[in-house]
Amino acid sequence: MKAHKISDSVFVIHADIHTDDRFEGIWPIPHGVTLNSYAVRGEKTALIDLIKDWSGSVGQFDEQLASIGLSFEKIDYLVLNHLEPDHTAFLNEIRRRNPGVQILSTAKGIAMVRNFFKITDNLREVKSGDSLDLGNGKVLDFVETPNIHWPETMMTWDRSDKVLFSCDGFGSYGALGDRVFDDEFSKEEHEHFYRESLRYYANIVASFSSFVKKALDKLGGLDPAVIAPSHGIVWRKNVKEICDRYARFAGYNTGGTCEREVCVIWGSMYGYTKRGVDAVMEGIESEGVRCVSHRVPDTDSSFVLADAYRAAGLVIAMPTYEYKMFPPMAHVLDLFERKHVTGKSVLRIGSWGWVGGAKKEYEESIAALKWSSLESVEWQGIPSEGDLALLKERGKMLARMVKGA
Ligand code: FEO
Repeated sequence: MKAHKISDSVFVIHADIHTDDRFEGIWPIPHGVTLNSYAVRGEKTALIDLIKDWSGSVGQFDEQLASIGLSFEKIDYLVLNHLEPDHTAFLNEIRRRNPGVQILSTAKGIAMVRNFFKITDNLREVKSGDSLDLGNGKVLDFVETPNIHWPETMMTWDRSDKVLFSCDGFGSYGALGDRVFDDEFSKEEHEHFYRESLRYYANIVASFSSFVKKALDKLGGLDPAVIAPSHGIVWRKNVKEICDRYARFAGYNTGGTCEREVCVIWGSMYGYTKRGVDAVMEGIESEGVRCVSHRVPDTDSSFVLADAYRAAGLVIAMPTYEYKMFPPMAHVLDLFERKHVTGKSVLRIGSWGWVGGAKKEYEESIAALKWSSLESVEWQGIPSEGDLALLKERGKMLARMVKGA
């Protein structure tokens, strides 16, 4: 595979990762993920962000660097926007191959280079306002964007080609294949990558939405011609689409508008809670509101998190289990607290066996999430006709809340 050309002096070097490994050891990537790096050439050459040696990535990088007459040995500067090992784990090997390469990152990034990789020389700390002159009119500027999603993160700006190298910002799961630019994908493919970008945001970035908003404000004056993230599509035709999408994602848990739909998350031991779920969904859909339904633990929490994050409404449906919450739901609610799935309209329902008991634990779990909760509906064993009528009505009430959200 060849490197992809952004301009005569800027190239995309990318590796498609297909693996049974989970991203961060947590999140499944059934559609793969890309690692994007960028070669920028003046009189000197900079490589922006690196890779982890993962599922053949180094071979793919070697091949693409060679296609533009480069190799790791010929790089003068290595700009590290972010130190997470998916972008840096190859650092010791590149230093071994190229001892003279100078590594640039923020002060916190350089500290991580020292502490993670035990590299102590040829390091340069940079901060907002600093730049790197590569010669031939090619200058890179640095903008600190802390906590997207690690504290040391920054973005790099190419003045002459107006390319924003945004690292994880604007990124996505999903391997790209031999195309990388937004104008090379069909509408259906963009829908796929939209879902993968939402899941990436909800899994990786959502806890830091307030910092994303600060960064978007800080970057607002740049007017990029190209957004070049370290995962996923490189945007050159419809830059506004990805900028608007990211602002919307950041708003989902910081007071912005969520999508007027309901994510129904349910678990059921013997089908009695499921009967209640069906009645609630009938009520919601009778009001013209879309439902997305996920059974736990069947659906991996990565996907549950994504749909719950974007929806204005949630149904949490689970039986009481040994006096407490259904354990897979306890895990999901723990993730919601960690990933700041806040500000939702919510209905909790569920069946109990010999005694209720989920209520206390549930209320403790959601205390920090600032949810607007309808009165819960619980019943013993099989729901009666009266229970089902009440559940349908509660579903309608939730749908009306969502429509008014
Ligand atoms: Fe793609 Fe936070 O590393």
